Amino acid sequence: MSCCNWRLSLLTSFDVAAVRAQFPILQQEVNGHPLVYLDNAATTQKPESVIEAIANYYRFDNSNVHRGAHALSDRATEQFEGARNKVAEFINSPTSLQVLWTRGTTEGINLVASSWGREHLQPGDRVLVSAMEHHSNIVPWQMVAQEVGAKVEPIPVDELGVIDLAVFDSLLDERVKMVALGHVSNALGSINPVEDVIQKAHAVGAKVLVDAAQSIAHWPIDVQRIDCDFLAFSAHKMFGPTGMGVLYGKRELLETMRPYQGGGEMIESVSFAGTVYNRLPYKFEAGTPNIAGAVGMGAAVDFLRGLDRSGADTHEKQLLGAAEQALIELGGFKLVGRAEHKVAVMSFVADFAHPQDIGMILDQQGIAVRTGNHCAQPIMDQYGLPGTVRASFSLYNTQADIDALMAGLAKAKMFLA
Ligand code: ALA
Repeated sequence: MSCCNWRLSLLTSFDVAAVRAQFPILQQEVNGHPLVYLDNAATTQKPESVIEAIANYYRFDNSNVHRGAHALSDRATEQFEGARNKVAEFINSPTSLQVLWTRGTTEGINLVASSWGREHLQPGDRVLVSAMEHHSNIVPWQMVAQEVGAKVEPIPVDELGVIDLAVFDSLLDERVKMVALGHVSNALGSINPVEDVIQKAHAVGAKVLVDAAQSIAHWPIDVQRIDCDFLAFSAHKMFGPTGMGVLYGKRELLETMRPYQGGGEMIESVSFAGTVYNRLPYKFEAGTPNIAGAVGMGAAVDFLRGLDRSGADTHEKQLLGAAEQALIELGGFKLVGRAEHKVAVMSFVADFAHPQDIGMILDQQGIAVRTGNHCAQPIMDQYGLPGTVRASFSLYNTQADIDALMAGLAKAKMFLA
């Protein structure tokens, strides 16, 4: 198929111009060129509605939550808990008590590894993670495994970036207590078959944590339908603020887990004779929380819910198809991660230059990509690569962004090849 056919197929009912216009940061020049932002897997940009919600919270309502006997505190509490309710509805959690605020996906995974892991993992138990996990879904498990004498083992991933479910089957036994799996690989874009994995893991009595950092912005997730035990994600990858995240857990698990951190807010009563912990979700939320972050998260949920999400999904898929085709036509580049089911993440290497040098030349042309191992060293080692160049698309990207990327790569080839 030629590049022009792909260009034509980018016509969809999804109004990308209208969506793009809501992101003020995209309307700027960088290094003398219009900004082409293709680092969305690292963090997405924020729409005006999210920026305004956070600014207005600080402008009019800033106060501490749950404790003040005054109007501002009531307003702050209402927004803070209102955001929690929005998130609960967004992921179809049975209750908002199961929606814990965290600093992000990493903290959510650390919470489960520390709190659930310390209590439930025994010497000789096994934790399975995929070979393409982000370090944040490997290292917390290694830390607790080392402490309790358990093992962390990789689920193999093939050359295309796909988990082999037959091999996964063969790894499962009653010593597997946890399967921790990225819904989508940040380095390769592969969409993992979490529903199958959850069913199979449950059949041997294992729990499943889904790292939804890279999937939450792309399609609606229903925690009850997929039946995960835990789900962690970050606001900043779904058009919300940094430093804010969510850990969802099944109620019976969260109820019996011990708090991860101690302090104010997480207690019912404190005395030197003994302390009684607060109820869910506060038991896991020691200290003054990130109230503005929750407000921003709520606004990000509103933004996503106001979108034609299936139109956005089609648009992103078309962007990926067009970009991959154009890259192959340019020549000299190799795609890394060629799973059939992928989000719009295009990881690639060149036969003529190091990823970092390519990233630098792109940056000079106002094109933002990520280069390196993407915090997924094991899969890079398996592929024998120091890293890749990663262009990750979001719903506000356009064919013009792909054209600029290709022009930038052609320049990189001219300078470096
Ligand atoms: N995990 C983020 C990424 O993939 C930071 O870029």
